[in-house]
Amino acid sequence: MPKPEKHVFICQQARPAGHPRGSCSERGCAEVGEAFWFQMQERNLFDRFAITNTGCFGPCGLGPNILVYPEGVMYTGVSKEDVPIIIEEHLLGGQPVERLMAPADVWS
Ligand code: FES
Repeated sequence: MPKPEKHVFICQQARPAGHPRGSCSERGCAEVGEAFWFQMQERNLFDRFAITNTGCFGPCGLGPNILVYPEGVMYTGVSKEDVPIIIEEHLLGGQPVERLMAPADVWS
């Protein structure tokens, strides 16, 4: 298996309805994940980039959230329409999509 150039982690965490933290699941992460898998298949990119569904990594109320490594870029509020842009600009182009990046204080 070749080492991936980048690894995209997609939060797929769910919580019970009414939970105070909410979740990426209730905010539509399933559609985002499906869009990534579809685009990766369409563009034949699985030998270059890895996609992994994960649990929660913090800012649940801002979701759907994804993380891209090795840069450690977090995107929040991602929609399925954003997925081709992230693939084009960040994965293929090497330039993170600034308008989708998590607020700086998410890491504080
Ligand atoms: S539920 Fe996705 S970051 Fe917490």
